[in-house]
Amino acid sequence: MVKVLMVCLGNICRSPLAEGILKSKVDQSSVFVDSAGTGGWHIGELPDARSVGIARQNQIDISDQRCRKFKVSDFDNFDFIYVMDSANLSDVLSLAKTEIHRNKVKMILSHQEGVHTMEVPDPYYGGERGFEKVFNLLDEASEHIAKSLSYEE
Ligand code: 4NP
Repeated sequence: MVKVLMVCLGNICRSPLAEGILKSKVDQSSVFVDSAGTGGWHIGELPDARSVGIARQNQIDISDQRCRKFKVSDFDNFDFIYVMDSANLSDVLSLAKTEIHRNKVKMILSHQEGVHTMEVPDPYYGGERGFEKVFNLLDEASEHIAKSLSYEE
């Protein structure tokens, strides 16, 4: 089983979408996907309604997800940890204890050519358009990740 963790700040907007999108592109009997937030304000809550909505428009149900906080043991439990922006990256790396831990952490857009910015913008304080943009960025990124994982299985 390959294990992939998606991480953002709140674990209610971006990383739940990344989790749901990647799940839709992999064989879930061989790839385990989860998500977490570096912040703990929304623990136990459902994803933001706007994330649930844009996922549903794309035939993906993320309403079974519940928010949790990133924990240090995630470094041992997961093979790949994808963060959405550079703040997530420094927050997660600040908890890493070994080089092995640090090497598991990547910006989710880092492998995309022709993308001008490697940040998945935080859509929380914006409108619906922001969620559509985030969905499209994560959909493309997850396509790359799903392909790269097919070599790991
Ligand atoms: P996310 O967005 O990191 O994509 O889940 C956020 C959601 C909530 C907050 C910040 C970012 N917040 O400050 O409550």
